[in-house]
Amino acid sequence: MAEIFKDLDPDTMVRSPGITYQELLNTDSHAVPDVLRLQSPKDLGYSEFSVDRYISKDWHDKEVERMWKKIWQFVCREEDIPEPGDHYRYDIAGISFLILRAETGEIKAYPNSCLHRGRMLKEFDGHASELRCAFHGFCWHLDGSLKDIPADWDFPQIDKEKFSLPELPIAIWGGFVFINPDQQCEPFEDFIKDMKTQFERWEPEKLYKQAHVAKIMPCNWKIAQEAFCEAYHVSGTHPQILRSLGCVNSQIDVWDNCARVITPSMTPSPLLDYELSDKDMMRTMMDLPPEAQVPELPEGMSPREFMANSSREDLRPNAGSKVDEYCDAEMLDSLDYTLFPNFHPWGAFNKIVYRFRPNGNDHRSAIMECIMLSPFQGERPPAAPIHWLKEHEKWSSALGFLGKVFDQDAFNMPKVQLGLESTYKSGIVLSGYQEGKVRWLHHKLTEWVGE
Ligand code: FES
Ligand SMILES: [Fe+2]
Repeated sequence: MAEIFKDLDPDTMVRSPGITYQELLNTDSHAVPDVLRLQSPKDLGYSEFSVDRYISKDWHDKEVERMWKKIWQFVCREEDIPEPGDHYRYDIAGISFLILRAETGEIKAYPNSCLHRGRMLKEFDGHASELRCAFHGFCWHLDGSLKDIPADWDFPQIDKEKFSLPELPIAIWGGFVFINPDQQCEPFEDFIKDMKTQFERWEPEKLYKQAHVAKIMPCNWKIAQEAFCEAYHVSGTHPQILRSLGCVNSQIDVWDNCARVITPSMTPSPLLDYELSDKDMMRTMMDLPPEAQVPELPEGMSPREFMANSSREDLRPNAGSKVDEYCDAEMLDSLDYTLFPNFHPWGAFNKIVYRFRPNGNDHRSAIMECIMLSPFQGERPPAAPIHWLKEHEKWSSALGFLGKVFDQDAFNMPKVQLGLESTYKSGIVLSGYQEGKVRWLHHKLTEWVGE
């Protein structure tokens, strides 16, 4: 983190009218864990960030050379490759990697490239007992050592002992597998430090991958990503959820490689210009039509506690008694974390994990993915395979209510791209606090890529 960023005093900093997130936590019916009591507001300044970051191929190329080829990045879940020989193809900006489970159970990552004349070794995710290239048949064991060269008499120059697939640094945290394309990279532990401590209580490794949906979006990957990094856009883009979401009362915290936006549910937005009844707020939260009955609140119970309890009962069959340990905030609020540059797991039982990355080397299109993680009892259910939406298919066709919200976000994306291609302005404007995570992302980009 650049040292110019100063800590702000949470008690005196400028913020939205309405209840603060910490004040809301004081009303919780359960003990609030320390992780939600953390506050790390930063003065990130008010500078603009160049439009080139979204529209210039040169900028994309720098991003690839200086960042994507050098940074720790999430590739797949451990459960995507449960058995020896299972492999997963991960591509970033026109470069392909092969992630696989070796005979020993260890996970390994190799460049997806044959050491003969370079053909990619595996085109698809799947299972294999060896890695045999489809071009001339060179073959490696799963542990990367050479197994076979057809007509090897013709390759006297190859030292078979040394002709192993190069290995890439790999790390596992919370059931997520990460690689770094740079063999000289910093240790993963140093990279993930703040996020790792904060997620301890939520144990994402104990969840299973219930769904995995992906789609090519017609915009730079950062446009897609930044649409999910603040709640300030809710009033403009998702007015239907404004009645149950304290959008501008979100708490934004910034550490070094990670940041979070916590957006409270069951508290009305200060941007509403009318009084809202508890029932109306519950109706919105429960997605009930106007004619439907809203349940009666038990005497003395707040709507927030009521909805948290209802969420506890929904989750109890799969999550067990853990739902009684989690406070109302953990049951209801959006605990949206980001590990730079593109990995966004939500805390507690929020389910969502987003990832955004460039689509090959096209800086005007992106791969957006949403992974849903769920608790389970008994044997781990198989991980859902990736489901690719076609250009005309909506997110709501795969993800229901949440998908409808994504479709509203997705609707903006190509318009932001075209708008940025057309602007006479050199940089984008960001708010100081509410868009702090987007601002932090850009400061980190400057650190890795340059201005
Ligand atoms: S390129 Fe792989 S065997 Fe020839
Ligand atoms: Fe949104």
